[in-house]
This record gives sequence, C-alpha cells and structure tokens, in this order.
Amino acid sequence: MVGARLASGLALFAYVLAHLLNHALGNISVAAMERGLDWAGIVLFSLPGKILLYGAFLTHLGLGLYALYARRPFRYRPAEAAQILLGLSIPFILLQHIVATRLAFELYGTEKGYPQILYAFFVAAPEAGIRQTLLLLMVWGHGCLGLHFWLRSKPAYPRFAPWLLCLALLIPILALLGILQGGREILRLAEDPAWREANLTPGRVGTEAESAELGRYSDHLLLAYPGLIVAALLARVLRSWLAARRGLIAITYPDGRRIRVPAGTSVLEASRLSGIPHTAVCGGKGRCSTCRIRVVEGANRLHPASAAERAVLDRIGAGEDVRLACQLRPAASLTVAPLVGSERPHGQRGAQVPGGFGEERFIVAMFIDMRGSTRFAERHLPFDTIFVINRFLEAVGGAVAAEGGSPNQYLGDGVMVLFGLAGDREGAARQSLAALDRIGAAIDALNTTLAPNLDEPIRYGIGLHAGTAVLGEIGDRRYGGAVFTAIGDPVNVASRLQGLTKRFGVEALVSDAVFKAAGRQTDLPQEEVEIEGRSGRLWIRVVAREAMAAAGGD
Ligand code: HEM
Ligand code: FES
Repeated sequence: MVGARLASGLALFAYVLAHLLNHALGNISVAAMERGLDWAGIVLFSLPGKILLYGAFLTHLGLGLYALYARRPFRYRPAEAAQILLGLSIPFILLQHIVATRLAFELYGTEKGYPQILYAFFVAAPEAGIRQTLLLLMVWGHGCLGLHFWLRSKPAYPRFAPWLLCLALLIPILALLGILQGGREILRLAEDPAWREANLTPGRVGTEAESAELGRYSDHLLLAYPGLIVAALLARVLRSWLAARRGLIAITYPDGRRIRVPAGTSVLEASRLSGIPHTAVCGGKGRCSTCRIRVVEGANRLHPASAAERAVLDRIGAGEDVRLACQLRPAASLTVAPLVGSERPHGQRGAQVPGGFGEERFIVAMFIDMRGSTRFAERHLPFDTIFVINRFLEAVGGAVAAEGGSPNQYLGDGVMVLFGLAGDREGAARQSLAALDRIGAAIDALNTTLAPNLDEPIRYGIGLHAGTAVLGEIGDRRYGGAVFTAIGDPVNVASRLQGLTKRFGVEALVSDAVFKAAGRQTDLPQEEVEIEGRSGRLWIRVVAREAMAAAGGD
C-alpha cells in the first residue's frame, strides 16, 4: 500500500517537475513554453503516458483517502501534518484546472496552450491565476515534503539534502517567474487585435456555452470530493466501532505498564495513544526500522510479517522475535520491548536530549583510541595495564566534557564521544574541534606524569565526523545490556577515520563536514578518502598534534 503510494507519488512528482520546468521556459519566451509543451505532449498524449499519469493520479488520490480511513489518531510532527493537509487540499483546486484544460480538450477539442492560459490568468480571469499559483505551491510543497520523508532515512541523504533544498526553492521560483514573464509578453501581444483574433478563437478558448457546461462539471466534482472525504471519515468511525465490538487487547511494556487498545491497533499507535515514547523516524511507514520491538510474550498469536516488513527487518539482521511496531497489528494480548529509545539516557554527563528520545538529530561523533595498549599489556602486569588505560580514558573524558561533549560508550581502550545532544549544530561542531587540543594537552600532561611507568609516550588516534544520527536506547534491557547511544553515518565514519589515523601517521582525522558545520574555513592539509561500506569519497583534514590548536581556534 505504502509502496504504491510512493510509486504513484513519484510518478506525479516527475510530471509536476517537468511541468514547472516548462513554465520556467517563459523566462525565454512564450514560444519556448509552447515548444516545451509540444515535447512533453509526445509522452503525455501517448496512450502509455495517459495511462501512467491518470493511473498514478487516481491511485494516489485513492490511497490518500484510504490513509484518512485507515490511520489511527497519530501525533504528527508539524511538517508531516502539513504534508497530509496539503495533499488532501490539492484536489479542491486541481480538479478545476483539469476540467478547464484536459476535459475541455477531450470533450470539445479545445486546444488551450500557454497563450490562452496566460491570457486568462493575466486578462480574462485573474482569480484563476491566483488559484493556479496557490496550487503550484501546494503541489510542490506536498511533493517535496513527501520526498524528504522518504529519503531522510537513506544514509547518503544528508550529503545531497542541501542541494535538493536549493532545487526545491529554485524550481518554483523559476516557474513562477516564467509565468510572470510569459504573462507580460501576452499582455503586450494582446494589444494587437490581429493576435487576439488568431489566438482567442472558440477552438482555442471554447465557447460560452462550453465554459458554462465545464463549470457545472467542475461544481459536481467539487461536491463529490468532499463527499469522498466525508465517506472516508464515516467509514473510519464505523471501523472504530466494529473494532471496539471485537474487544480490547492488552499490550504490556518492559516497565510493567499495561495498556488496553482495540484489537488491530498497531503497537506504535498504541504507544503513541498512551503517551509512551516510541521512536518512529519514518512516521510509521515501515521503512526506517527504528520503531522495532522485541515480542517477549504472545509471538505465537501474531500475524506473520509481510514481505515488506520482513525485508526491512532482514536489512538490519533482526531475529525472528523482532517486529516493526508500526506494522504489527496484534489481535491478541502481548508483551513487547521497544528496542530503540524510550528512556532518559543514563550517565550522560551534562547531556539531555530535548524533545524526547529515539529521535533523529544532528550530532558530531568522535572516536578516540589509545594506541599500542596490547603491546603494553604484553609487557606489564594486568593491574598496570588497566591503570594506564583508565588514566587515559579519564584524561580524555575530562577534556571532552570540559568542551560540552558526552563520553557515550567505552570500547576497551577507546571511547566514543557525542557532541550536540543539546544545543545547535554549529555549537556542537565548534565544541568538538576545541576538544581536540584539550585532549592533546591532557594526554601530553598524562605522558609527563606517567613517564616513569611508560616505555614510550601514550599515542592515540581520533576520528571526527558530523551528520544526522538516530539517538535512542539500544540493546536488551532484560539482561541489563541496553545503552543510550547513537547509530548512523556520523558514528560509522568517525570510527573508520579513527582507524585511518594510523595510515596517515597523525593524531586526528576530521571530516570537512565538521568544519562546515562549525562555519570555519581551514587550511589544514586536505585529503580524499574512501570509507569502507559507504558509497562515494569523503573529504577530510589531517590534524597532527601541533595543528590541534589551529583546528579548534577561530
Ligand atoms: C491528488 C491529490 C493528492 C492527494 C489527495 C495526496 C495525498 C497524499 C497523502 C495523504 C500522502 C501520505 C502522507 C503520509 O502518509 O504521511 C501523500 C504522499 C505523497 N505524495 Fe501526494 N497527494 C496528492 C497529489 C500529489 C502530487 C501531485 C504529488 C507530486 C508532486 C504527490 C507526491 C507525493 C509524494 C512523493 C508522497 C510521499 C509518498 C510516501 O512517502 O509514501 N502527491 N500524498
Ligand atoms: S516507524 Fe519507521 S519502520 Fe516503523
């Protein structure tokens, strides 16, 4: 269902994009707009083109109305609510446009081109021009938000997002300017009676009787559409009533909370309705996997996962007892344990995640690793090894905490630090850069203090990368193994960069993304590296100990 909505949405988006680019040709001339339309017509007026466009429109409209029927009350973020409201409002204006252009052509052969439409907008019926501008912005806004929600869980998206945002702003501006320029040209041309005679013939703009007839069709459609909305809402009330008759089931959560919901409610909807925080990055569309739960009891009474749900679960290597809460609609009581996010992070020195847990957020991830600890352990007593590693981790922890970072996970002789759990992205990036020199200084001091106990000074490697990660509690709480942490591109890349410091023979590798987020120019040596398991290459800066102060300074 969601797949068909996405496919039809993408087909419509491709059409709208082509249409807006066609409008933008008005910046050249009305003749260029007309030529663009001729080219587009080859595809659109062919039978497969018509089937694809109208098929996509009807499918998408139908699925939009179905969503109104099927979705349980859900707490939407403002942008999600805006997308749905824009989508459902589009037909109110779009239907009139389709009647005035496509239906007029199909019924009476009225061949309206840009000159006729622009004449209507700028001379005969300016209110239609205003309506059309509104429609253009609504359709474009709805489509772009839809694309954004679809793409945002893809790892490569953060890299392309700024460019896509530029295009999302530029294209409608160019289209509207094209319409304006085209309109001005038409105003000039229309002063000439010969032009009016040639271009405003009944065959091109229709007769008054035809317009009246089309107006009636338009009115009927405008009544029918709200009728469909009301029908979807009534069907929804009926379904809730039937569900209530089917009885309630109980869903039990790890903290012992037990909630009662009508059978068939998704576990995610149940959590949301009861105010239990539950991560759902894709908004319940079964794409991101962040709503996943472990079914602790009652698994044998559940419907099996659909192929689409199974594919998402397989992608993250989830076991048989893990399900997507947004897709699981239990008919019998069960006990579940959400796996990503839901509790206040433990032990996060100075760090709070605003706006709940299990959220998507811009962070800077830093990996710091002590070099040569294995060799040290071979030559020293276990007690000495642990002592030195702990002093190293304390020195690093103190340094990053002083700059606002949160030591998040200890991995043997290394630590992962997160910046940006609170505050803005620029501040987070600046803190992480300033932390480099503090860490360097802390370990220099440690080397001096421990010199009598060390064969050689402690060496270390640091990797730093910024981007959007998913924050939440991960692991199995039943065995005390759940930790609040971050997953995603910044974490993976920072870890790999830390590993690459050995190859470069320096203390730190910092991605350009961090400097960019900090709003800093830098002339530190630049390199391009390939990160295992990640497409594309990454620009980084090579930061030796001596350069750390420069990396962190203004
Ligand atoms: C006919 C009028 C339309 C209606 C009633 C409508 C309705 C909807 C609804 C209700 C959604 C789902 C939002 C959600 O569940 O979060 C949606 C998604 C979407 N729509 Fe539309 N829409 C319409 C026209 C369009 C047009 C013209 C475009 C292209 C510009 C478009 C592109 C999209 C895209 C790309 C998505 C995201 C698909 C997904 O994530 O599954 N829609 N639409
Ligand atoms: S909310 Fe994204 S998969 Fe369930």
